[in-house]
Formats: sequence, structure tokens, C-alpha cells
Amino acid sequence: MQSPRLGTVLVTGGAGFIGSALSRELAPLSDRWVVLDNLHPQIHPTRQRPDALHASAELVIGDVTSSEDWDRVLTLVKPNVVFHLAAETGTAQSLNEATRHASVNVVGTTEMLDAFSRASHVPQHFILSSSRAVYGEGSWQRSDGSIFTPGQRTHSQLAASQWDFAGATALASESRRTVPAPTSVYGATKLAQEHILRAWTNARDTGLTILRLQNVYGPGQSLINSYTGIVSLFSQWAREGKTIPVYEDGHIVRDFVFIDDVVSAFAAASGRQPHEDDAPFDIGVGGQATILDAATFIANYYSAPTPEITGAFRDGDVRHASCDIERSKAELSWVPEWPVERGLSALQEWIGAQIEAGEPHITS
Ligand SMILES: NC(=O)c1ccc[n+]([C@@H]2O[C@H](COP(=O)([O-])OP(=O)(O)OC[C@H]3O[C@@H](n4cnc5c(N)ncnc54)[C@H](O)[C@@H]3O)[C@@H](O)[C@H]2O)c1
Repeated sequence: MQSPRLGTVLVTGGAGFIGSALSRELAPLSDRWVVLDNLHPQIHPTRQRPDALHASAELVIGDVTSSEDWDRVLTLVKPNVVFHLAAETGTAQSLNEATRHASVNVVGTTEMLDAFSRASHVPQHFILSSSRAVYGEGSWQRSDGSIFTPGQRTHSQLAASQWDFAGATALASESRRTVPAPTSVYGATKLAQEHILRAWTNARDTGLTILRLQNVYGPGQSLINSYTGIVSLFSQWAREGKTIPVYEDGHIVRDFVFIDDVVSAFAAASGRQPHEDDAPFDIGVGGQATILDAATFIANYYSAPTPEITGAFRDGDVRHASCDIERSKAELSWVPEWPVERGLSALQEWIGAQIEAGEPHITS
């Protein structure tokens, strides 16, 4: 991993899963590490500063949608580098709480930029934690070799158990060749964040790096947020000897990327000189695992019953999400080091330790 000296850093949403892990790696390499986070109760049930946040991090409790909170933060700190992580992250939840997702993810981003304009301060580098959700179903290939963007599976298609796009196979997404086509409100708001930050940073001649993260998992992920973190949820069920229910036919595909590999990608991004025409970087392991694969591994780990394929579905769920990481590896000088089975085992050990220590969890 590169170890750049970072100067003064501001991290929005920096008390969450990824932000806390990032603080442990990068706060010691910065002159100041300031976190703006509202300690959202869905992630932080006790509303206390998380132990996982590095001791040197200065936590400002505030909301990215509040201009007053922004002015307060920018009086305190004039960052060189901004990691923009604050977000409402529930993909399925965003269908029913669209305004909340748009408010935090879109308006929260514009409030941040307006605050920098009011403070007459332009950071040298913004690093956005974007998502594979911007691709939706991405690109698929027919048997004749032609490539198409299938768009969203409709409710009636899913109700008829038509899980795949007939006669076609999914391609790994790559930001320079896959057209974004979000199938969730969440995905649409993450894409909006990318465009808003690109417009602002180009106009201000400053740097932007966008990381499109696949499914991040690992120690530190919320044990109580039932809307995100499927791996954590599966683990808690299996640990109690319950049968893990698996949606559709079990063959939903994901690229599970371990938290340490995501942290090293952010570190690599922060250590490089951004270019105005940088395409977003795809961050995964470049692998493809079905949800059934992950559920089976976790069930076996605990000698729990075989996972049950339920045929249930969620509107807006993407059938296939994986990415091509070759360009990210080459241009970020970054290599993911955690194969899924090793990462899943490390997560189980952490979950066990948390539950034994009395930490709140979903099945408690
Ligand atoms: N975890 C993943 O699998 C994943 C995948 C792709 C992208 N991302 C993106 O990475 C970022 C961080 O994700 P995470 O997994 O650490 O999520 P998280 O929910 O653990 O952390 C988000 C943090 O943002 C804070 N927050 C929420 N609303 C806020 C608001 N209005 N004002 C200030 N702070 C607020 C929360 O309190 C929390 O500490 C998000 O932008 C998310 O979209 C995550």
C-alpha cells in the first residue's frame, strides 16, 4: 500500500464501516483527520463515538444536509483532501424512502460544495465512495456476440421467476465501457453524486477520484443494519443454527470485496495525482460469487442447515454485479489481497467476538 502524507483531511460519514477502517490506516498519516458524521441511529444505535474510529480522529457530529453544520466544520478545518462517504445506503430501502436517500446523497453533496464556495476554499482532492449500484444490470452479451444494456428487471418479470435475461450472459462492469443504468433510487443518487462532483471539480480546476465499490464486507460492518450487509446478516443467522433464506434461485452474482482491500484502494487513490478525465475506478476482487455460494460457505462454517432457496425477490435488486479491475490495479498500483473464503472466515471470527462481548446484533 502507498503511504502518502495526507495533510488535512475531512471525511464525511467517517464514523461508519468504511470510514472507521480508513481512519485506522490513514489518520496516522495525516496532519489532521476530521470526521463529519451524524451518527445515524440505523448504524450507531447508541449514538456514541465508535471505538473503531482512530483515537486521533476529530469527530464533529453534524449532518451533511445542514448548511449550518457545514459552516461550523469549515470554520474548524480547511481540508486538502475530502473523502466523501456520508450516504444513505439501503438499496431496497431507497425505493420506499426515496426522498431521504436523495436528500442525504444528492443534496448532502451539493450542500458540501456550496459550503466550500461560501468558505472560498477549494480542496485539492475529493475522493468519492461511489457504488457498483450505478451500473444496475450493466452490460450483457447475446450468443451472437452482440452486447446490450438490458435495463431493469420488471416486477412482473420477477413475479414470473424470470431471473435472467434469456439467451444472454452478464459481462463484468468496467467504467470506461459499461453504461451506467441504475435500477435503484440509491444507485441513481450515487450516479448523481459522481456527476455533481465532476461538474464542480472541473469548474474549480481541482482533483476528483471516484471509486465504484462492489459489495464491501468484513470486520467493523454493522451488525444491526438489516438493510445492508447481507453477509453479516447471513452470518448471524447461521451462527444461531438457523437456515439462511436465499432469494431468487440463489444465483444472484456479487463481487465481495474485503474491507482491507477497500481501504488500500482509498489509500492508493489519495496518494495519486488525479486527472480531469479520470474515469471512475472499479473496486472489487474481480471475482464472481453467487449469493448461494456465500450462504453455503457461511452455513458450513457453523454447521448450520443447508441454505434454502426461497424464490422470493426484491424489486430493484440487480441479478449480476461484478467488475473488471485490471485498469484499477494498473493505474492505482493496487492489488486486492483477500480471497472471499479467507475474508468470510475473518468476518466470522470478528462477529463471534462482538456477540460474545455483548455488542447489539440483529438476532439479539
Ligand atoms: N459498504 C458497501 O458495500 C458499499 C458499497 C458501495 C459503496 N459504498 C459507499 O461507501 C460509503 C460508506 O459506506 P459504509 O458501508 O461505510 O456505510 P455506513 O452506513 O457504515 O457509514 C455511513 C456513515 O455515514 C453517516 N451518515 C449517514 N447519513 C449522514 C448524514 N446525513 N450526515 C452525516 N453523516 C451521515 C452514518 O452515520 C455512517 O457513519 C457510502 O457512500 C456508500 O454509498 C458502500
